[in-house]
Amino acid sequence: MTTTRPQPRPGVLDIAPYVPGKSAAPGVAKVFKLSSNESPLGPSAKAIAAYREVGEHLEDYPDGAASDLRDAIGTAFGLDPARIVCGAGSDDLLNLLARAYLADGDEAIHTTHGFLVYPIATLGTGAKPVVAPEKNFTADVDAILACVSKKTKLVFLANPNNPTGTYIPFDEVKRLHRGLPPHVLLVLDAAYAEYVQRNDYESGIELVATSENVVMCRTFSKIYGLAALRLGWMYGPAHVVDAVNRIRGPFNVSTIAMRAGIASLADPEHIERARAHNEKWLAWLAAEIGKLGLPVTPSVANFVLIHFKDVESASAADAFLTRRGLILRRVAGYRLPAALRMTVGTEEANRLVVAALAEFLGKQS
Ligand SMILES: Cc1ncc(COP(=O)(O)O)c(C=O)c1O
Repeated sequence: MTTTRPQPRPGVLDIAPYVPGKSAAPGVAKVFKLSSNESPLGPSAKAIAAYREVGEHLEDYPDGAASDLRDAIGTAFGLDPARIVCGAGSDDLLNLLARAYLADGDEAIHTTHGFLVYPIATLGTGAKPVVAPEKNFTADVDAILACVSKKTKLVFLANPNNPTGTYIPFDEVKRLHRGLPPHVLLVLDAAYAEYVQRNDYESGIELVATSENVVMCRTFSKIYGLAALRLGWMYGPAHVVDAVNRIRGPFNVSTIAMRAGIASLADPEHIERARAHNEKWLAWLAAEIGKLGLPVTPSVANFVLIHFKDVESASAADAFLTRRGLILRRVAGYRLPAALRMTVGTEEANRLVVAALAEFLGKQS
């Protein structure tokens, strides 16, 4: 077929563009952004100092191999730096993995409420996203395995998942891995791993170390509070690292991001404060919102999924909260039109949301 203008490859125009969390509430003086799972404690002061220092030398290209950062990550997590690749956020790495391992006609599996970047990255390669049903808003290993076909090349699993906050125990991750053919790449997206306080959870490091077809992605955007700088990393088998390194942008991570990341890793106390803050307020929010009669999906991450009685009620609650400067996330794009996702915020923000939800529900009844 001849066309009158350039056409993107098949699949590209099937992508529903990613809609980021809102960040403004028109006419409201003080805004609490609880829509993108950012850290209420912000970054380490050491990271901010490193950022400012690099600001004096913007003329130099970054180190394309990210050697110092990979060494710092290797030391912090006990990993071989040669098996780490850094990216401009973990989004970058998820897309690179899709590009390296998917082609027209292939299939990549993700779960019903899985992170939206997975279908976007999949469709961008010409491959087909296959959706495995969840149980109780949680990934279901048997359902994922039932979706595996001859065309399957990749499985994306966010553990914990966004926007549900649920996780599957390490035994289940291992069972999933055992059930996959050896040529299928299992991508474990552990963006929220640092928040998880469960003995049966493992981010994937052990499985990567002992297999040839598992990759783990991590991010500095969440507990490290560096979302603006775009910094993530993956740990994988040497052959996957080699493939991804061949197609990534030669300078895909900025010097500022790398230095801030290294400085963050040198401030574990800050991370511990962020973890402790989250542990306290995650439990508080789940309990207080539950007392209002709104079901909250049990979360191990830094956000909660709040269920309303119907789509109209979720929409009205969102508008009511936004007018008060409390910005939560609509999650209709995640097949959850009657729910809102709320990031665990500062004490002030958390208390304001609970009070505003109580007022909203009082007005509705
Ligand atoms: C499950 C999951 N993976 C990956 C990311 C991407 O994070 P980033 O690209 O900022 O590293 C997010 C961000 O919201 C996420 O929720």
